[in-house]
Amino acid sequence: MTSATAQNYQPELDPRELRRAFGSYVTGITIITTWGDDGSPRGMTANSFTSVSLDPPLLLVCVGKSASSYPAFRKATVFGVNLLHEGQKDISSLFASKVTDKFAGVGHGPVHTGAPILKDCLTWFDCTVHERIDAGDHMILIGRIHAFETRPAMPLGFYSGRYMSVDPTLRQGGSPSHTMLVGYLIEHEGKVLLREDGEGRLMLPVARHRRAGAVLQLDDSRTLALRPEETFLYSVFDVGEREPGYIIYRTRLAASGEAETQLPPGYRFFGPLDLPWDRLPLTEIRGMLRRYLAERREGRFSVYIDSSDGGRLAMIDGSSRPWRAPDFVAESIAETEGTPTS
Ligand SMILES: Cc1cc2nc3c(=O)[nH]c(=O)nc-3n(C[C@H](O)[C@H](O)[C@H](O)COP(=O)(O)O)c2cc1C
Repeated sequence: MTSATAQNYQPELDPRELRRAFGSYVTGITIITTWGDDGSPRGMTANSFTSVSLDPPLLLVCVGKSASSYPAFRKATVFGVNLLHEGQKDISSLFASKVTDKFAGVGHGPVHTGAPILKDCLTWFDCTVHERIDAGDHMILIGRIHAFETRPAMPLGFYSGRYMSVDPTLRQGGSPSHTMLVGYLIEHEGKVLLREDGEGRLMLPVARHRRAGAVLQLDDSRTLALRPEETFLYSVFDVGEREPGYIIYRTRLAASGEAETQLPPGYRFFGPLDLPWDRLPLTEIRGMLRRYLAERREGRFSVYIDSSDGGRLAMIDGSSRPWRAPDFVAESIAETEGTPTS
């Protein structure tokens, strides 16, 4: 092939294949937001977000010219980029749709530039328009970041046209080879909550990670209200080389009365006498439940950590109390961070 031929060569690119190839790049999901001419908020789902520069602080998104909110972004002086967390698939679908009032049930408000910023998201960036670049069927919108906030939650991922979860064990140097499951031993009126795995086995409710606070997110997006003041670490153990490890917390349901009728399908409370031990597949979980029932009778609980000699129990005496850093700790933190102590 001569160089002249190469320059003139116009490959027939199949747009569907190209879209598929673009889709093999893993992204998060954002909702980009601005104001329309009529003063109403406009927004759309966009995964074309890219960080651009730290100094000055710049980011970009690509806005399709066929989007009905394109004219708003074409004229915008300010806009927001809101990165979604893993519980926000519905928001992504809503803002990817042509629904006229996408913001009706979605909390938003101005923060710094006046752009509409979503109240609930993983991270938001509040921007003024730095530059607009025409790029084929899209416009590259470069924003200068004036304010941003991020909170500890897992992002909503997108790959090959589908939403995906991001494996938390790969974060912050965590070992990708060993997942820890966070399980909950939840007591309510002397009974313990278990969930069916769909194959007749019973397991403890698990969470992808422990969120501080009083609400446990169950796997079908329902939640259980817990008592944070009665939530304690109870057991940490490995099951096998290739199995996940377990971190188990013990806690109690906050609700009383009709709590049992509000459980998601597959969840049920079992009293000490009707616990179906043969349906609990893990020896470690059976042992832990026996210890729990014995300790509950006594009203004194321990924390178990497994070890090569069969494990260790540390007794916890007394009830919990709020933690406040002693003055010398607070002072040394303030010194390190350069903030005044009073
Ligand atoms: C996961 C996902 C990512 C998207 N990313 C973009 C994007 O980066 N740019 C874009 O213009 N449209 C993107 N879209 C499509 C728009 O969200 C969609 O066209 C939407 O209907 C536009 O809303 P509007 O017509 O009300 O403005 C994406 C859609 C999805 C589901």
